[in-house]
Amino acid sequence: MQTLKLGIIGVGNIAPAYIRGCAPFDVIKIVACADILTERAQAFASEHGIAAYSVDDLLAREDIDIVVNLTIPAAHAEISLKIIAAGKHAYCEKPLAINRADGERVIKAAAAAGLRMGCAPDTFLGGGLQTARKAIDDGLIGRPIAATAFFMAHGPESWHPNPGIFYQEGAGPLFDMGPYYLTALVNLMGPVARVAASARRTFPERIATSEALMGQRLPVEVNTHVAGTLEFESGAIASVITSFDVWGHQLPNMEIHGEDASMSVGDPNHFHGVNQILKSRTSEWVNIPHSHTTTIGRGAGVADMAYAIQSGRPHRVSGELAFHVLDIMCALEESAAQGRRIELGSTVEQPLALPAGLADGELDF
Ligand SMILES: NC(=O)c1ccc[n+]([C@@H]2O[C@H](COP(=O)([O-])OP(=O)(O)OC[C@H]3O[C@@H](n4cnc5c(N)ncnc54)[C@H](O)[C@@H]3O)[C@@H](O)[C@H]2O)c1
Repeated sequence: MQTLKLGIIGVGNIAPAYIRGCAPFDVIKIVACADILTERAQAFASEHGIAAYSVDDLLAREDIDIVVNLTIPAAHAEISLKIIAAGKHAYCEKPLAINRADGERVIKAAAAAGLRMGCAPDTFLGGGLQTARKAIDDGLIGRPIAATAFFMAHGPESWHPNPGIFYQEGAGPLFDMGPYYLTALVNLMGPVARVAASARRTFPERIATSEALMGQRLPVEVNTHVAGTLEFESGAIASVITSFDVWGHQLPNMEIHGEDASMSVGDPNHFHGVNQILKSRTSEWVNIPHSHTTTIGRGAGVADMAYAIQSGRPHRVSGELAFHVLDIMCALEESAAQGRRIELGSTVEQPLALPAGLADGELDF
């Protein structure tokens, strides 16, 4: 197995998590970075012992195999298309793009060039969601018939260094947090056939309360509370809420209800949540021990893609999966705007489940 070299474009808040998360995998090595802010790229490079370039110079470096796109959502499609045009495999943070047309352009460009396109989130590779997947695949809850998925908070303006992007097109609670929940649901229950939703934009502007930006006004361009229903191709039905309007709640992150049992699933924004099962005609929730590794983190999806490039198998955290999730999110917004159910144009196969018992730092060929 060869070690593939990685470059990162966009070294903001999430970039250090990729440095940490990619480090355990021998199959990948981050060697370079770039940012529209040259000084930021230089500071990040010297902190992490890698090289800093302009975006074009990074893409011109011949020995880089995969470029990880950690720019803001509005720049995702443009930067991913540049990476592909430079002949490199691309892996993008979520969402794949901020609209279907751009998302489609990206996955078609990668396919036409014979390159891999991967897209976060990769949290479903973690021990929590792989254990939940195995429980369903092994028939522990019977055929899934319903699910709930709730992300509700009061927005990131109290902690994020650049919170304005969360209220611009391509973000909001649905496009920012929805990918974790929707990707997890598709991994567990397969593709979605149609959706319906209601949505609102509660506050016309937000006020940053982080120390650095205290008092800064952030215009709101997106819906900040989206409540929807997903009908899966299997016939199962999920109720989903994403909100930046809610101060607190006591709802579970995610539950999957089967014909024979109910399963409470750990937070899909994290890798190693704990799942519980309640069997029919019992009243006790029981922990399901992790069947899968609990040592991987953000970047595992890039490592999985590096194995897949070398073995020829499909990569799990794929552009096609991200496009289906983007299609679901666009359809939820359209349903809310138009007051009708929306049939999805896309479908996708469930990603391959990870094998249990993988050694630390290793994935499968
Ligand atoms: N911050 C988090 O906790 C978090 C968690 C998971 C995923 N993400 C995702 O990661 C992505 C980045 O988020 P972030 O929080 O790091 O944002 P950020 O604003 O902190 O960082 C983005 C970086 O990209 C750079 N950039 C923007 N446009 C560019 C362009 N055209 N070319 C080159 N560089 C460009 C910016 O200068 C900045 O350094 C988003 O898609 C977000 O959804 C963030």
